[in-house]
Parts: sequence; structure tokens; C-alpha cells
Amino acid sequence: MNTRALLAIALLIGTIAAVLWLRDEDSNGSMSRTAESLPRFGRALTLSKSSDCKPCHEEVYNEWVGSQHGMAYVNPEVQRLSKGFRDRDCLPCHAPRPIPETGLGERALERLVDLEDGVDCFACHRNQDTMLGGTHITQAVDAPCNPMPSTAIKDLRTCTPCHDQHKVVQDWKETTYAVKGPGFKDCNGCHMPEVARAPTSTLPARKGKSHRFPASHDLATLKSAASMTVNLEGQTLGVVVRNDGTGHNFPADERHRTVDLTLVCELEDGTVATCRIDRYRNPYRDEFDLRNPLRTPGAEREYTVTLGSVGLVSVHALRVAADFNPNRKVYYAENTQIPSGEARQYRVSLPERVKRVTVRLLYKNQPFLADGEARVLHESVKNVGK
Ligand code: HEC
Ligand code: HEC
Ligand code: HEC
Ligand code: HEC
Ligand code: HEC
Repeated sequence: MNTRALLAIALLIGTIAAVLWLRDEDSNGSMSRTAESLPRFGRALTLSKSSDCKPCHEEVYNEWVGSQHGMAYVNPEVQRLSKGFRDRDCLPCHAPRPIPETGLGERALERLVDLEDGVDCFACHRNQDTMLGGTHITQAVDAPCNPMPSTAIKDLRTCTPCHDQHKVVQDWKETTYAVKGPGFKDCNGCHMPEVARAPTSTLPARKGKSHRFPASHDLATLKSAASMTVNLEGQTLGVVVRNDGTGHNFPADERHRTVDLTLVCELEDGTVATCRIDRYRNPYRDEFDLRNPLRTPGAEREYTVTLGSVGLVSVHALRVAADFNPNRKVYYAENTQIPSGEARQYRVSLPERVKRVTVRLLYKNQPFLADGEARVLHESVKNVGK
């Protein structure tokens, strides 16, 4: 073999390796694409605040200003826990500089100005002198935001820098929603529903994407997360709670989010007794008492809970595997969140004295919230013994 042939082979191997490496970079999504490879306009941007966008993008602005992104800095709960942001570690996600500045998928940097704008328009859209997100236009438009045709804004790595701390993005990748085809739904597919946009000087009426980013703070979206079915045969109550509406574990993201399955029982003598059948949550590392007893899909267990003055009630629980990819890797063993597509199935033996039972699935922003202050996802009332 001569030198040229060897060189050609070396070049071929090099190219294949480079292609494989690039493909891997795309599929694992953890590596950054530099700002330089994203579209440029070549004219300085004069806009600096989100309110500068309002005159021309009023509908989007109004959606954003009332969203969790719009309030990420002023949010009283965040202010309280960050001690008025004296804890600077909270700034990179709650008042960030533009994501493309550090590279898609890379950790964001903290902003120094206009902090009250929280996760502002620039955080997701600004790329040097351009606003990413010209998915409706076919050529550069002469407007102060320098819009260029580009689909870069739809890249999942716009969300990863802030939303993968609790592995929401990695988790989604293992669900049926991440499979290309008719069932495909990425984060924006569920959290940016389509909305009508009025015509502008350059575009006719069209479909836009809601910047409210509805999720757990929106009751309708919250209720769509999981279903609950209840049936009663004699004194045996059957309940199934299924995560059939999210593209990730339920309840998602923040570790203090809590979902409780509860019973309120009315007794023969008119008194009321309550109990909690189960709790779904991704507990903090030091909460050892919350370790998940149903470690693997298909696991089952018998246990008892205390129903007020009535005493112990026995429960049989089964972890029903997801149809798609049942053995997810992104799952902590101690976790009692319900993975996307999985269900929890219960059989509860109600004591004779119970005449009426109300089954509730409750959502709590944090685990110490009383049942009465929780939001009710689903409720079902059954009369016993008739
Ligand atoms: C890596 C990015 C990141 C950092 C750093 C971060 N957060 Fe967050 N935070 C988020 C995201 C994303 C959410 C929304 C997810 C959710 O609601 O489950 C959130 C939500 C919250 C919420 C819930 C707000 C509500 O009303 O529902 C609180 C409170 C909060 N963060 C406080 C803090 C505090 C305090 C710090 C600093 C110690 C901090 N965060 C640092 C990304 C971050
Ligand atoms: C003086 C009016 C004006 C201002 C101010 C303005 N824009 Fe624009 N923007 C436009 C026009 C015109 C287009 C072209 C598409 C259209 O007509 O909506 C556009 C397009 C866009 C697009 C692409 C939209 C799509 O449908 O694909 C984004 C994203 C955008 N602007 C973001 C911003 C942001 C963020 C700000 C504030 C920092 C801003 N714009 C300020 C006029 C403006
Ligand atoms: C720079 C960080 C950052 C980026 C980038 C970001 N988010 Fe967020 N997001 C947050 C923070 C922080 C909150 C919570 C703020 C609060 O509640 O005070 C949040 C809240 C949300 C919520 C509402 C959750 C709730 O509690 O109701 C959804 C949904 C969401 N983000 C989806 C997305 C999606 C989809 C993307 C990508 C297109 C994205 N985010 C990009 C930081 C970010
Ligand atoms: C099939 C629809 C669907 C897909 C896909 C989806 N979500 Fe969700 N998401 C939901 C629903 C429904 C809720 C409300 C229930 C809950 O909080 O778990 C939710 C809740 C959330 C929350 C709020 C958690 C909180 O503490 O308030 C965040 C943040 C979030 N999703 C981020 C994402 C991100 C990031 C992606 C993409 C990797 C994504 N979601 C993909 C349906 C979806
Ligand atoms: C958390 C990230 C995020 C923030 C914050 C954000 N956007 Fe967007 N925006 C997106 C994404 C993602 C899309 C594209 C969605 C798609 O086409 O699937 C988009 C699309 C748009 C569009 C075109 C679609 C439409 O609905 O008309 C405009 C215009 C726009 N954004 C302007 C703004 C303005 C103005 C702000 C601030 C008031 C803002 N965006 C804040 C992520 C964001």
C-alpha cells in the first residue's frame, strides 16, 4: 500500500470519527454549540429591557409578564428563600444572562441589571446582535430586534441550563414523548400551547406559542398530569393513579413538590376520619424515612395506615410498569414520584363503620401544607354498603 492510500484511509477514519462525535454531541445534548455558529445580523442591538419588546410583541409580552419566568426574581417565595438574593447562587437561573452567550445547554451566568425582569426575553432569545426565533420569517426583517430566520430557539438545550438540575430533561428523553413520530412532544409541545397571533406589518395572522408556560401553577394543566380511577366492591376500595399526562416524573422538578392520595371517611355515627394512602415525591437526600418501598416496576407491598379514631386500615399497593421503556435509568431509588406512563394501583379494605368515602389526589407546593390548603387534582365520592 502506498502513502497516498494510507493517508486516504486515515482521512476516512478521521471523518467517520468526527461525524460520530458530532452525532453523539447532538443526541446527548450536553455539549454546547458556540454562539458563533448561531445566526448573526451584523447590526448592533439597541434594545435592553423586556419592556422594550412590548410595543411590537404585546401579546407575547403580556403572557410572559404574568408567567413564572416573568416573576422568577420578584416571586415572594424565591425572595424569601434566597434572603433577597443575598444568596447569589440563585441568580444564574432566576435572573440570567442570555443562554447563547455561554452556549446552548451550558450553565447560565447571573445578570447584573434589570434583575426584576427574572428570566427575561433576552435569556432565551438573544444571540449577540440577533433575536433567535425567526421561525415564521423566511428572510431577515428590518426591525430593532434584528430577527433572522432560524429554528435554533426550538433546541431543547434552551431549557437544559436551568431545568435539568433535577433531571427533567434527561428524564423526558427516556419517555415515549421523545420518540420521533406522531406522538412526539418536547417541552414546548406541552408547555407552550399554540395561541392565535394578530397580523403585523410583516406577517399575516398566524399561530404563535404561549409564553405563559403553563404547568403546575395552572390548574387545568395540573389536572391533565395524572388520572385517578376509583371503584368500590363491597368494603374493598380500588384506586389507580396514573401519570398519563406529563413527559417526566410526576410531580416534576422542585424536590418539595408533593402529591398526596388521601381518604376522608364518614362513619356511621356521623364523625369523620382521614388518612393518607400514599405520597409521591422526590425527597431531599436527608429524608431517609421517605425511601421508596416500591423499588422496581411490578413491585408490590402490604402496609397499614391509621384512619383517625377507627384504627388501622390495610392497603395493598402495586407499582404498574410503563408500557414504553419501563426500566428508566433516570430514576433515584428513594424516589416516590410516578414516572411518565407508570401507575400506582391500590386495594384498601375499608372498616365496616365507614358509610361514605371521598378519595382525593392533592397537589402541594411543599410537603408541610395542610390537606385543606392543597389544590385538588381529582376527587371521587362513594357510598359504602349499598
Ligand atoms: C440551576 C438553576 C436554578 C438555580 C441555581 C436555582 N433555581 Fe430556583 N428554580 C429553578 C427552576 C427551573 C424552577 C422551576 C421548577 C419548578 O417550579 O419545579 C425553580 C423554582 C424555584 C422556586 C419555586 C417557585 C414557585 O413559586 O413555584 C423557588 C422557591 C426557588 N426556585 C428558589 C430558589 C433559591 C432560593 C435558589 C438559590 C438557593 C434557587 N432557586 C436557585 C432553577 C434554579
Ligand atoms: C419596532 C417593533 C419591534 C420591537 C421593539 C421588537 N420587535 Fe421583534 N419583531 C418585529 C418584527 C416586525 C418582526 C418580524 C416578524 C413579525 O412581523 O412579527 C419581529 C420578529 C421577532 C422574532 C421572531 C418571531 C417569529 O415569529 O418568528 C422574535 C423572537 C422577536 N422579534 C423578539 C423580540 C424581542 C425579544 C424584542 C425585545 C427585546 C423585540 N422583538 C422587539 C418588530 C419588533
Ligand atoms: C435561565 C433559566 C431558565 C431557562 C433557560 C428556562 N427556564 Fe423555565 N423556569 C426557570 C425558573 C427559575 C422558573 C421558576 C420561576 C419561579 O417560579 O419563580 C421556571 C419556570 C418554568 C415553568 C413553570 C413551572 C411552574 O412551576 O409552573 C415551565 C413550564 C418552564 N419553566 C419551562 C421551560 C422551558 C420549556 C424552557 C425552554 C424553552 C425553559 N423553561 C427555559 C428558569 C428557566
Ligand atoms: C406530555 C406533556 C409534557 C411534556 C412533554 C413535558 N411536560 Fe412538564 N409538565 C407537564 C404537566 C401536565 C405538568 C404539571 C404536573 C407536574 O407539575 O408534574 C408539568 C410540570 C412541569 C414543571 C413544573 C414543576 C413544578 O414544580 O411546578 C416543569 C418545570 C416542567 N414541567 C418542565 C418540563 C420540561 C423542561 C420539559 C421538557 C424536557 C417538559 N416539562 C416536558 C406536561 C409535560
Ligand atoms: C424561557 C424561554 C423564553 C422566554 C423567556 C421568552 N421566549 Fe419567546 N420563544 C421561546 C421559544 C422556545 C419560542 C419558539 C417556540 C416554537 O416555535 O416552538 C419562542 C417564540 C417567540 C416568538 C414567536 C412565536 C410567537 O408566539 O409569536 C416571539 C415573537 C417571541 N418568542 C418573543 C418573546 C418576547 C418578546 C419575550 C419576552 C417578553 C420572550 N419571547 C420570552 C422561548 C422564550
